[in-house]
Amino acid sequence: MSVDLLLGLQWGDEGKGKIVDVLTKSYDIIARFQGGPNAGHTLEFEGIKHVLHTIPSGIFHPSAINLIGNGVVIDPVIFERELSNLEPYKIDFSSKLLISKKAHLILPTHRLLDAASESSKGKAKIGSTLKGIGPTYMDKTGRNGIRVGDVLTKDWRERYNTLTQKHLRMLNFYNVELDFDLEKLEREFFNSIETLKKCQIVDSENYIHHAQATGKKILAEGAQGSLLDVDFGTYPFVTSSTTTAAGACTGLGVAPNKIKEVFGIFKAYTTRVGSGPFPTELFDSVGERIAKVGHEFGATTGRARRCGWIDLVALKYAININGVTQLMMMKGDVLSGIDTIKVCNQYKTEQGLIDHLPYDINDKSLTPEYIEFPGWEEDLTQINAADQFPKNFVDYIDFLEKELNTPIKIVSVGPDRKQTIFR
Ligand code: GDP
Ligand code: IMO
Ligand code: MG
Repeated sequence: MSVDLLLGLQWGDEGKGKIVDVLTKSYDIIARFQGGPNAGHTLEFEGIKHVLHTIPSGIFHPSAINLIGNGVVIDPVIFERELSNLEPYKIDFSSKLLISKKAHLILPTHRLLDAASESSKGKAKIGSTLKGIGPTYMDKTGRNGIRVGDVLTKDWRERYNTLTQKHLRMLNFYNVELDFDLEKLEREFFNSIETLKKCQIVDSENYIHHAQATGKKILAEGAQGSLLDVDFGTYPFVTSSTTTAAGACTGLGVAPNKIKEVFGIFKAYTTRVGSGPFPTELFDSVGERIAKVGHEFGATTGRARRCGWIDLVALKYAININGVTQLMMMKGDVLSGIDTIKVCNQYKTEQGLIDHLPYDINDKSLTPEYIEFPGWEEDLTQINAADQFPKNFVDYIDFLEKELNTPIKIVSVGPDRKQTIFR
């Protein structure tokens, strides 16, 4: 049985959590494949909003198994908090939530190293969520990391101590002021490890292979977005994992020829949180309006998201890298009432007009070229079928679909599960 894949095509926060929740009823297993608690995936139904960081977004469905894959990095303290936030919903975690033995752990000192690294960079900082993501993936690829499976062994505390001592020496090297109480952080950490140990810790790749062999339907859930991919994103202003389709292969043990549908999610405009280039960013009242109407504040850090027009150059790039087979457009409702909507389809550079993403979009001389569309006045949030969309909105969707050469199968018109239109 094949695996479907859902991932963000921009700089994250496209609405992955909402759509995974909507699609879960058609799947047996929802599996997160990369990232960690830098992610904030929002789901809304029955008037309640939930934000998940480590737990996959299928957790509210009674029958689906939710798996945290080997490619994910887990902060047990944040994970424990997520579990306790979900207590009122009486979810049977012991049967519904599985964790890969090979997922790496974020240690308290990884968070401190993240803070020290960012602080030492000054103005050049990445704008990290400071959850310890970069240092944890560095230890993973540097072959020093501690994995979930290790905490089931006797000598892992020794390895923890060796690694923590090394981190403390590295912190000295940074020579930045950091206020922390390691004893308190470690108390929290080791307590939360006990909670983690009560979960089902599995050889997740074997579990997935067995599930495939027995005809189970699997949806792989990405975190962040393609433009934050460590290889293909706007380096160095990226995260430290493979956020693109290949990440599902390494982050779950799914073979490339077993991936079927690749669902690519994008907003009807663009947002970015943290530093780095953003050619279509708006600095005017339209940008402010989008931020306000779209409630564009980070689900993990609460930071204001930068807003701008949709960027087809970047979207086409993301579609190619991921092999997207179906698109999902989110938050079109937020653009209602704007007189003129702009779509960037080329960049102007010193070498002339280009329609591909260049090596360096940090280049200040690069500016977006726009096509303009008349906006729509109508409120879209109460619409429940595609044939009720206003004409100008339909024209906008049709244009994007044609330019991107990929069908837009879902149009989302509000944060709630129900505000989802299938085309
Ligand atoms: P994710 O990280 O990709 O899961 O996205 P986030 O949860 O960080 O950010 C998406 C935000 O937009 C959340 O607050 C959602 O509740 C909200 N949202 C999702 N889809 C829509 C939509 O179609 N319209 C509006 N207005 N809000 C939406
Ligand atoms: P979801 O899954 C948006 C951004 C940070 C920063 C950069 C590096 O909710 O879409 P990191 O903490 O990974 O070292 O930060 O990546 N970033 C996100 N932006 N959505 C996310 O996740 C993000 N995860 C990381 O803001 O610019
Ligand atoms: Mg988010």
